[in-house]
Amino acid sequence: MSGTAQTAQSLLDKATGRLSRAGIADAALDAETLLRHVLGWDRARLVTGAREFVTQAEAARFHSLVDERAARRPLQHLVGTQAFWRHEFLVTPDVLIPRPETEILVEAALARLAPLERPRVVDVGTGSGAIALSIAAELAGAEVHATDVSEPALAVARTNARQLGLEARVQFHCGDLLAPVRGLRFDAILSNPPYVDRADAASLAPEVRDHEPALALFPAEGDAYAVYRRLIPAAAPLLREGGWLLLEVGQGMADTVAGLCTQAGFTVEAVLRDLQGIPRTVVARVAERAP
Ligand SMILES: C[S@@+](CC[C@H](N)C(=O)[O-])C[C@H]1O[C@@H](n2cnc3c(N)ncnc32)[C@H](O)[C@@H]1O
Repeated sequence: MSGTAQTAQSLLDKATGRLSRAGIADAALDAETLLRHVLGWDRARLVTGAREFVTQAEAARFHSLVDERAARRPLQHLVGTQAFWRHEFLVTPDVLIPRPETEILVEAALARLAPLERPRVVDVGTGSGAIALSIAAELAGAEVHATDVSEPALAVARTNARQLGLEARVQFHCGDLLAPVRGLRFDAILSNPPYVDRADAASLAPEVRDHEPALALFPAEGDAYAVYRRLIPAAAPLLREGGWLLLEVGQGMADTVAGLCTQAGFTVEAVLRDLQGIPRTVVARVAERAP
């Protein structure tokens, strides 16, 4: 790149073209996000400052981020955060980048738990802590637990808890599924488990396949349903009477997962669709005992 001074707008125009040619769908938005990250500007400031010149150091930093994005590194790894529910979460290559569709699970859990004074909840496979911390932030009386097999993921979740002032509200446990909390009884068990079949790895976007943790995408062994097959029967005895199991599922998986819930003695209360109309969240409930 030449050393000629450039305006914010001219940097954006060139970067948008570069990212489009690299196959990035939201090229303009990504370019804008990266430039705002470098300049420390919000959107309004970018509108008013579009014709301002940026320093050579800022332009160089921006070009290097655009290079990395053109090589299909996730935008969130370049800026370091992802918005989820009401907060910004630190994300690193050790955790899944929280997805907007997972907010459906959070919303459904909150609607059911809000009437309870002191609900006890566990988020299985917490990753960045997005689900557990969003629930803890909304429900002041809740006792929230979160498990993950990945210590590096839990380190990110603990950092997020600290940054959100929620470290005293969520207990993080390292271990397999519900094993670390076996002695407790819950009002809700929530999980967005790994559910991608390894055979489908080649069809994933490079951002996902090459940069997100395999542990977060693929069940450690078996097919796409392997974690559900272990988690659903293990969840039933850990729920209090009338407690809920809320599970995120991959596209086309809801019927089979709902069937696994029914087999384990749950009543399937709802299957919620995401904004694209894909059945995404299975809401199951353990039977209330007869009086
Ligand atoms: C799809 S990610 C979900 C992360 C986060 N809950 C979210 O929704 O953004 C799945 C998470 O489950 C964890 N995981 C995978 N196998 C596990 C197991 N057997 N027990 C506990 N956690 C597991 C992974 O390390 C990963 O953090």
